[in-house]
Amino acid sequence: MKPEFLLAPEIAYLNHGSFGACPRTVFEAYQDYQRELELEPVNFLQRHFPEKMQLARVKLADFLHCHADQVTFVRNATYGMNLVARSLPIGNGDTILTTDHEYGAVDRMWEALCSETGAKLKRVQIPLPVECSQDLIDAIVEQIDSSVRVLTFSHITSASSLRFPVEELVNVAAKAGIISVIDGAHAPGQVPLNLDRLNADFYVGNCHKWLLSPKGAAFVHTAARWTDQIRPPIVSWGNISKGTSSLLLENEWQGTADISATIAVADAIAFLESHHWFDKVIPDCSRLLQKATKDLLEITAQHEIYGSEELRAPQMASLMLPQGDFANLHAQLFEEYQVEIPVFATSYGNLFRVSLQAYNTEDDVLRLCSALKDLL
Ligand SMILES: Cc1ncc(COP(=O)(O)O)c(C=O)c1O
Repeated sequence: MKPEFLLAPEIAYLNHGSFGACPRTVFEAYQDYQRELELEPVNFLQRHFPEKMQLARVKLADFLHCHADQVTFVRNATYGMNLVARSLPIGNGDTILTTDHEYGAVDRMWEALCSETGAKLKRVQIPLPVECSQDLIDAIVEQIDSSVRVLTFSHITSASSLRFPVEELVNVAAKAGIISVIDGAHAPGQVPLNLDRLNADFYVGNCHKWLLSPKGAAFVHTAARWTDQIRPPIVSWGNISKGTSSLLLENEWQGTADISATIAVADAIAFLESHHWFDKVIPDCSRLLQKATKDLLEITAQHEIYGSEELRAPQMASLMLPQGDFANLHAQLFEEYQVEIPVFATSYGNLFRVSLQAYNTEDDVLRLCSALKDLL
């Protein structure tokens, strides 16, 4: 499917995870919306704003299997996590329980919130490799005490690409009366979601990663009990959209902005549907990823970090690098081999991450393998 995307053909682009990539037809729809906006800004941003947002929101809600009035668009997952955190009733003496695999910006946000509110941030250590999901659950449950008010973790982690047992952990939280906040930046479009059934207190997801929308589109979903407790970091006019809860009334109009990426989320979902994404494309990517992982483990001579299948994300895997200094690996791979992958220094060692999307071929993986053979 490479010609369906706008990516530079000479690059072995194995880093969909960082910023996604938008199909040509979805990008064209997005540009059409931008032109329509410039043609008559008042028509677009005032007269027709509520119905345009509503259409995109309903399409997203269908895709996520949730009620359209429990989900709102935001510009990215970072903003969404901030929006949720600022709405939480936490204070001195409360603990926010998280893991040491969280995305850096989000971890930093929790730290800032704790220093403002007097709450404590506790990071559960999850050493690599991980044997099975139950080990993740046990590690978290062990750290729960009566001060824990919030449990927050990534559905699929950023550097380690670990798929967390989200249903089980939401249930653990619910039973203990703890608020669950899921950072699903990498999940929508990669794993099937049913947010109604999951019933987490808050679920934040990106559309511009695996859902293939243009950049600047993400969402916050809240359980029904929270829709009126939302306090966005940006206070604007409010009361401009359809809906009755603070989730929609306070959040959808955030001042003048280009909402074209948000509206194009409906086109991105239509693209996934028309290409049978979950039945065909993702299983193909998973098969290629499995083979790539096997070949890469031979080259790195390292153990896999996933002890069981349930920990794997369908299109993204991270691998350990041997001992050594890999500060230049990311740049070398790009400059000398035109291979795009991220390299992460973590407390559990250096990792690199391979993302596979519809536009990748075996040749991309072969190029990475031969580059790593040279460089390691
Ligand atoms: C787990 C996780 N959370 C949040 C984010 C932030 O996403 P964004 O840059 O779209 O805000 C990322 C980005 O890669 C991520 O991996």
